[in-house]
Amino acid sequence: MALATEALGHIDLDVEIARLKRERNAVILAHYYQEGEIQDFADFIGDSLQLAQEAKKTQADVILFAGVHFMAETAKILNPDRTVLVPDMAAGCSLADGCPPEAFRAWRARHPGAVSISYINCSAEVKAASDIICTSSNAKKIVESIPKDQTILFAPDKNLGRYLIRETGRDMVLWQGSCIVHETFSQRRLIELKVKHPQAKVIAHPECEEQMLDLADFIGSTAALLRYVENDNASAFIVVTESGILHQMRKRAPHKELIAAPSEENCACNECPFMRLNTPEKVYLALRDMKPTLEMDEGLRVQARRSIDRMLELS
Ligand code: 13P
Ligand code: SF4
Repeated sequence: MALATEALGHIDLDVEIARLKRERNAVILAHYYQEGEIQDFADFIGDSLQLAQEAKKTQADVILFAGVHFMAETAKILNPDRTVLVPDMAAGCSLADGCPPEAFRAWRARHPGAVSISYINCSAEVKAASDIICTSSNAKKIVESIPKDQTILFAPDKNLGRYLIRETGRDMVLWQGSCIVHETFSQRRLIELKVKHPQAKVIAHPECEEQMLDLADFIGSTAALLRYVENDNASAFIVVTESGILHQMRKRAPHKELIAAPSEENCACNECPFMRLNTPEKVYLALRDMKPTLEMDEGLRVQARRSIDRMLELS
């Protein structure tokens, strides 16, 4: 249930959040898809892998996770002694929601002997039932680490899976899930943009559909896209992923032209509705009230940790 934001009067959120962070010995970890204001008061901003690594090593007593639920779960799995605060418990993910644990276990049972690689965008239960986890930044390496004679089941993102099949030449059985944000980009409108900005390079996240990736000059995780914009010689980029990443791109490459890729309709479809449930006010309230906290059954945590640890060893 979405947290109702009470009237906060004339509170200076920057000052109050900084004070609460000190008082609670808390860190704010934020994904690149968060709104700019949240990124600006975060202690660490990263992609899914970087955030998991940071959550694992933090010494802070409290982790406020400005991202989505599966990311906060991963933080709790890796660093269970910390209090993990989630500004809005309803911040889910269409990929995680589209892969119910019961159905996933039944799918695995239909493929005895296969190795199961699951994208980190899944629930703790699915992680517990998987052999190894990957993120968009290490997925290729993880797939290539599996012996060639083993069948691979890849869940839950069919678009990332299809991209990996093409990149690695490995055949994989794919779960048919997708990201509601990356599926809304329009190829027709991207081609129109390319015609209008012939000098711009197209950069895309691998959660996009194949027809979008076919038009990309570079494909990578959010962190890789950011590095590419900083380091590549081009002066303009059409960015095909959630538009929150543009905030860091503008800060790190202020002289480059950044164009957000369009969806078919004139909507804010390139904003993840789950990520954007977090607001500065909810971050403040969570730190003030020390809730909602992410709790997890210890047996489940230990089970889920195995597949994440295997990924971290290879990363
Ligand atoms: P990365 O953080 O690995 O780039 O993935 C993006 C994403 O969709 C997170 O939900
Ligand atoms: Fe999930 Fe897509 Fe939102 Fe990422 S952008 S959290 S994959 S719905």
